[in-house]
Amino acid sequence: MPTSRKVAVVYHSGYGHTKAQAEAISEGAASIEGVTAELLDADSAAADLPALESADAIVFGSPTYMGTVSAPFKAFMDASSAVWMEQGWKDKIAGGFTNSAAQVGDKTGTLQTLSVFAAQHGMIWVGLDLPPGNNTTQSSDDSMNRMGASLGAMAQSLADAGPDIAPPSADRKTAHHYGARIAQAALRWSA
Ligand SMILES: Cc1cc2nc3c(=O)[nH]c(=O)nc-3n(C[C@H](O)[C@H](O)[C@H](O)COP(=O)(O)O)c2cc1C
Repeated sequence: MPTSRKVAVVYHSGYGHTKAQAEAISEGAASIEGVTAELLDADSAAADLPALESADAIVFGSPTYMGTVSAPFKAFMDASSAVWMEQGWKDKIAGGFTNSAAQVGDKTGTLQTLSVFAAQHGMIWVGLDLPPGNNTTQSSDDSMNRMGASLGAMAQSLADAGPDIAPPSADRKTAHHYGARIAQAALRWSA
């Protein structure tokens, strides 16, 4: 019988940019045979924590606001302390992603917050396996992982561009790749 695994993507997005990144993560996860993906906004996930019990992997995503996660995403994190008390997410696969307006924008702070959060829950963190892009004369702003992240997936959305065009396709492809990696890790870890 084929194995079936579930990846949940929990995200907040104030203006739609991080939502577009979350959708690409979810599509990447679902592209792996034997894996289903579910997108949950942080408010709904906080209100229905038991819905995450059946997930083999949870990917956490937040825009970078003031150098860290957004307040609505932090509310989800704080609500999850009820699960933490029971270590209900222990040994689930975890990953994280973030999007911000500036090239750097202090996005690393957000991914560090997400990885510590996952560690508190006893989860197994999966980083991004792509080498840095856009760092040689042979690469460009269209390269995968153009943000040069390794802890998770990063995206950058110009502040005056809508989510139809921002983040750009390189960041969406990076997110898709990361979602697929999380799904493969969930299959392998659960085996
Ligand atoms: C309250 C607030 C704080 C922000 N702080 C940062 C920041 O620290 N670094 C940055 O590069 N962009 C920052 N931005 C810009 C957002 O990260 C950017 O617009 C992002 O695309 C928003 O994603 P969203 O549409 O999913 O909410 C901030 C925006 C807001 C509203």
